[in-house]
Amino acid sequence: MGEARIVSFINYKGGVGKTTTTYHIGCSLAEHHGHRVLLVDIDPQSNLSLLCMSYDRYNQFRTQQGTIRDLYRRFRQESRLGTRDFIVREPIQLNNGPLRNLDLLPCDLDMLGEDIGGILPTVSAARTGNAFQVLEQVAERVLREWDFLRLALDEVRSEYDDILIDCPPNLYLMTQNALAASDWYVITVVPEHLSSVGVPILIRKIRDIRERIRRVAAILGREVSFARFAGIIAVKMRRAGQHQDVLNRLREDLSSYIGEGSLADPVFATATTELIGYSEAAEQNLPVWHARGNNPAMAAERREYEAITEEYLRRCHSGEL
Ligand SMILES: Nc1ncnc2c1ncn2[C@@H]1O[C@H](COP(=O)(O)OP(=O)(O)OP(=O)(O)O)[C@@H](O)[C@H]1O
Ligand SMILES: [Mg+2]
Repeated sequence: MGEARIVSFINYKGGVGKTTTTYHIGCSLAEHHGHRVLLVDIDPQSNLSLLCMSYDRYNQFRTQQGTIRDLYRRFRQESRLGTRDFIVREPIQLNNGPLRNLDLLPCDLDMLGEDIGGILPTVSAARTGNAFQVLEQVAERVLREWDFLRLALDEVRSEYDDILIDCPPNLYLMTQNALAASDWYVITVVPEHLSSVGVPILIRKIRDIRERIRRVAAILGREVSFARFAGIIAVKMRRAGQHQDVLNRLREDLSSYIGEGSLADPVFATATTELIGYSEAAEQNLPVWHARGNNPAMAAERREYEAITEEYLRRCHSGEL
């Protein structure tokens, strides 16, 4: 394969399965499909990093090797990025050795509460009287704010088949960076009443971000790529009775205005359901199909995420929406 597909898992709502889904699709791609996978954690909660390894190991990497926070610092200082320096190689330990071909770019708990970006553009031509030159300089600086993750991932893109980005529950600058760096975005949703309101708003907001970036790029005569909508993965956690109604309403609402290519069904055919084993698996730093536990129901999850991953491949690799 050539260059990795880059996919962001996104929702401004918290606790809707973004991290669990990113992690399990990534594990399945590496284990069941032999893909080379990079998981990218841009959420300061660092949940994805902590699903891959124990807190002690994470802390060791964080202090000795550094995280995306240090990578971002290099970007700010306009020095060499060196994304490879911060990648943890094959962090997930199965019984018989590491989960092959799955790497992690970890996030940093120290980023909690830190503001990123937002520096005022410096303009040197301000007194020369050339207004367009000033405008171009400002546009250049503003565009750079959205370019950190794209530049960082460009350095390693040829080494992977899939790069999966786990976004924080917001649409601030780092999430905007993820969208600008990605080919596709996937929304995870707990299908409850409020999600049928929230998802169309989320898609509209993502389009607004795209238009904002495009307008700035147009000042410089440039075109920029941006993530396209690949579908919704439903995470059915509670009150299962309502789920199907909400999903059907979402299908109707979205089909009327998505208009981005021919999306036959905006919702993935397989959902993940509330099954036993996720907290045990998280504690053991293992995907749910490897987790040790007494409950035979845990085995069922393996098949769920396998089916979701098959569909992910059809949508994000073959473009069959
Ligand atoms: N299919 C599922 N069945 C049962 N529990 C699940 C399922 N998917 C996720 N969970 C659990 O739900 C909780 C929230 O999931 P997760 O952390 O993936 O959400 P998130 O959207 O990434 O949250 P945040 O916005 O805080 O980053 C976790 O405790 C996870 O173990
Ligand atoms: Mg999360």
